[in-house]
Amino acid sequence: MLDLGSGAGTDSLVAAQMVGDEGRVVGIDMTPEMLAKARAAAAEMGAGNVEFVEGEGERLPFADGSFDVVISNGVIDLIPDKDAVFAELFRVLAPGGRMQIADVTIQNPVSAEGRRNIDTYARSKFEDTRRKAEKFGARGTTTKAFKPK
Ligand SMILES: C[S@@+](CC[C@H](N)C(=O)[O-])C[C@H]1O[C@@H](n2cnc3c(N)ncnc32)[C@H](O)[C@@H]1O
Repeated sequence: MLDLGSGAGTDSLVAAQMVGDEGRVVGIDMTPEMLAKARAAAAEMGAGNVEFVEGEGERLPFADGSFDVVISNGVIDLIPDKDAVFAELFRVLAPGGRMQIADVTIQNPVSAEGRRNIDTYARSKFEDTRRKAEKFGARGTTTKAFKPK
């Protein structure tokens, strides 16, 4: 299982308990300070089936089809090039694998005032994560998609 933008490692560590001894969880994050926190938390828990890797969602350092499940929580809205990140997530997902994402989505066009707001601009670049996920099969308000077998 892959956790994109694993931050302090909370979701990865929950997943590590769910996948059990036979499973493996990889958290990837671009921020060294977050990786240090995640690794310390894994050590404290004695979790041996999880590792935290430094890297960027737009250029994942994994082979095609490496993961059965990809999760991400509150990360893709921070990445301007959503096409690149979704293409990479889809590439590393195994055939029949599942991608499940929790993220900020845009329900209505961003107003002129919103476009002047630096925080809105930096967070989304007006690209909606949910709409971008649709071409990978995600439907509805829950961003969840299966890669065809
Ligand atoms: C809001 S935090 C969410 C952390 C974690 N998923 C959680 O739910 O607690 C966003 C994380 O995404 C990471 N991040 C942002 N852009 C990234 C990118 N392009 N590639 C990898 N990680 C990224 C940040 O370093 C940060 O740790």
